[in-house]
Amino acid sequence: MNVGFVGLGIMGVRMAGNLLRGGHSLVVFNRTPEKSRPLETAGARAVRTPAEAARGVSLLFTMLSTPDAVTSMALGKDGFLGALTRGSLWIDCSSVDPSFSRHMALEASRLAVRFMDAPVTGSLAVAEKGELTFLAGGDAADLKEARPLLQLMGKTIRHLGPVGMGSAMKMIINMQLGALMAAFSEALALGESLGFSRTILLDTLVGGPVAGPFLAGKRTKLETHAYEPEFPLRWQQKDLHLACTTAWEQGVPMPVINAAKEAFMAAAADGMADLDFSAVAELHVRKH
Ligand SMILES: NC(=O)c1ccc[n+]([C@@H]2O[C@H](COP(=O)([O-])OP(=O)(O)OC[C@H]3O[C@@H](n4cnc5c(N)ncnc54)[C@H](OP(=O)(O)O)[C@@H]3O)[C@@H](O)[C@H]2O)c1
Repeated sequence: MNVGFVGLGIMGVRMAGNLLRGGHSLVVFNRTPEKSRPLETAGARAVRTPAEAARGVSLLFTMLSTPDAVTSMALGKDGFLGALTRGSLWIDCSSVDPSFSRHMALEASRLAVRFMDAPVTGSLAVAEKGELTFLAGGDAADLKEARPLLQLMGKTIRHLGPVGMGSAMKMIINMQLGALMAAFSEALALGESLGFSRTILLDTLVGGPVAGPFLAGKRTKLETHAYEPEFPLRWQQKDLHLACTTAWEQGVPMPVINAAKEAFMAAAADGMADLDFSAVAELHVRKH
């Protein structure tokens, strides 16, 4: 199948690579063109505008950072939406809020383009192995058509309802991830202030019933204070922000998530935005 892929960051480049290995003809675009090189070497055609990535493809994936980035690639100068063939399918895998996904579906429908939101869980290593979980919102028939491609990038595909419901579930998952990471950071800080070593704290807490299972994968970063990004902190902050915006839309109070959002804001302001999100723990370390 002729497939377009826009957004070749940490996740996108690995997802697109798996489509290519699956035998699909891939045309790719990234704002920073150098990131297309590994895929070009592997046989993809890299183009210079988002619109060129849409011409002649029957399915286009986006894996972009924020709602603003998706808007700019879809509807900005040389945007891809106007270049997609009528009846083609756009699948947005970016982590965005559900209202935004519904808005993009409306924009797409005006041009007779079908839309699905299909954000993912699983980070760099899981994307590399093609074992992501897709959280899909949209028509069952569209998902059926896309399933063989999604299966090249993921091992679990959940259909959660109409457009927006995939984004909704992703947001609900990531707001917990952020809150757990922020709370664990404070547990480390208080524990160390009481005289426990980081190692004894990690030995005791990680793998226990009150620490998130994902923390096992963050142990080396927390011990070495080296936070090579797998999930950049700025995107965790964005996910918390989007959850808070959605809570405002829904009239749901979220005092804990709002507080966690501010911890990530402080870490970003402290120069950690491009590090892994687990670097939020350094907020406290620096102050002791
Ligand atoms: N990393 C993870 O573990 C993970 C897991 C699940 C979901 N996600 C979500 O997946 C999405 C991508 O994350 P990532 O980790 O791959 O992030 P990333 O490495 O920072 O990649 C972000 C992508 O968005 C593009 N972009 C950002 N702003 C743009 C703009 N204004 N116009 C055009 N393109 C723009 C970047 O282009 P440039 O290369 O030019 O900067 C890059 O292609 C995010 O929504 C994130 O929340 C990430």
